Amino acid sequence: MTKKRTEAAIRQAKPAGANADAAPAASGTTAGREAERQFLKATRWGEWRLNQTDQLRGVAPPPLQKSPDPQAPLVDLVAPEDLAVGAMPVAEAIRSRRSHRSFNQEPLTIEEVSFLLWATQGVRELARSDDGTVVRSFRTVPSGGARHPFETYLLVNRVTGLPAGLYRYLPLDHQLCLVSAEPDLAGEIHVACHGQYVLDAAVVFLWTAIPYRTEWRYGFLSPKLVAQDSGHVCQNLYLAATAIGAGTCAIGAYDQDALDPLLGVDGTEEFAIYVAPVGKIG
Ligand SMILES: Cc1cc2nc3c(=O)[nH]c(=O)nc-3n(C[C@H](O)[C@H](O)[C@H](O)COP(=O)(O)O)c2cc1C
Repeated sequence: MTKKRTEAAIRQAKPAGANADAAPAASGTTAGREAERQFLKATRWGEWRLNQTDQLRGVAPPPLQKSPDPQAPLVDLVAPEDLAVGAMPVAEAIRSRRSHRSFNQEPLTIEEVSFLLWATQGVRELARSDDGTVVRSFRTVPSGGARHPFETYLLVNRVTGLPAGLYRYLPLDHQLCLVSAEPDLAGEIHVACHGQYVLDAAVVFLWTAIPYRTEWRYGFLSPKLVAQDSGHVCQNLYLAATAIGAGTCAIGAYDQDALDPLLGVDGTEEFAIYVAPVGKIG
């Protein structure tokens, strides 16, 4: 087949397993499973190369991080180069990693929190366009196309010197901004996570996705990439927590409709994607 004919065939091809006119196959049936599994397959990369993504259309990339409310108090964190915690050898951290669902009452320090935030979303390097605008960031975790589609919300229950509340990490500034000091929030987030370990934890990582950051470049391929990206972030949290004598547990089973409003996100352009309570163990 010539290159031209190949491209024409790709343009005409329907996504594998999809029939736009048919009702979706019932979940649990063979056809239903096959339709659901399409999400996991890499069958559409040829189609993507011909697709008019916003990037190819020349649309400016979305911001790398959400700006804080101008009135929001900011908290400086310990700079990555000054962190003295978390020096455990990586082989030991990998060997010891496991999910922890109960924690002791010991608070985390600001330095430990700084380490966990840096380990999960910290910026290593920035790429700039010719006019000096920051267009891409490279971080402590990989991300398809370096799109980094996440925001990190941190529910603080017990951190020495940091008032309890909901904060958001600003990776480009390595700071926290206060989102809410509402005292009932921790209990409400606990319920939205089906009672899974929120109130016991010293802090809770609540990651949201802003899918357009990835869609701008990858269009219809984005859901799988965003899901893959989130695993890297949470695994770094597991290893970093282990290295400071703390533990965590990935939580995928939370109530989407309850959690999104508690984080103050719209549930469409930004929504919760993963949760992980962290506390000292032993
Ligand atoms: C994507 C994902 C979602 C998970 N969701 C939950 C959850 O909602 N609740 C929970 O208690 N554990 C959850 N876990 C933790 C797993 O149950 C745990 O990783 C598994 O039992 C293996 O144990 P280990 O992590 O100690 O090796 C989740 C893990 C992953 C990777």
